[in-house]
Amino acid sequence: MSLKRGAIRAMVLFLIVLLGCLNTAISQELQDAIDAGKTEYMRSCALCHGDKGKGNGIYASKLVIKPANIALLQKGNNGVFPTREIFQVIEGTDDIKLHGPKAMPVWGDRFDHESLLYVDDRFTRTFVRGRIFELLLYLEEIQVQ
Ligand code: HEC
Repeated sequence: MSLKRGAIRAMVLFLIVLLGCLNTAISQELQDAIDAGKTEYMRSCALCHGDKGKGNGIYASKLVIKPANIALLQKGNNGVFPTREIFQVIEGTDDIKLHGPKAMPVWGDRFDHESLLYVDDRFTRTFVRGRIFELLLYLEEIQVQ
């Protein structure tokens, strides 16, 4: 094999690898959002649902109703992460007794725009939605395939 052919082969291989990386890589910004979601999850959900969502948090054994395995939400929804449903669980809270009433959920005021009264309403809603969105990104990350 000539040197030139070798070089072309190496170049083609390099391009294939590069394209592969571009395809799977996620941006730093997205990774930061997922990490922020993890922090949010650890703070508000992990005590019951466990670090990876399996329902085995340290409170789980003390609860009469066992925390759901929320790592299986995607699997249970034909492989599609049910973003809208879970958004409403976090934002609405009224459906799940163990999460507490909407006005006083077990995770406090983290996802309640009314707790941020010092800035205008439109901003606080968007801010809190951002928090919920980050949390959803993390939840999606821990789904069992
Ligand atoms: C005090 C314990 C506790 C905390 C904290 C908690 N959960 Fe739950 N959660 C539960 C229990 C218990 C259930 C199951 C309720 C039932 O089966 O009726 C549940 C159910 C759910 C469900 C419904 C699952 C399904 O299959 O329909 C979702 C989604 C969920 N939790 C998400 C969260 C998220 C996200 C957080 C954090 C923001 C959180 N939970 C915090 C106890 C908790």
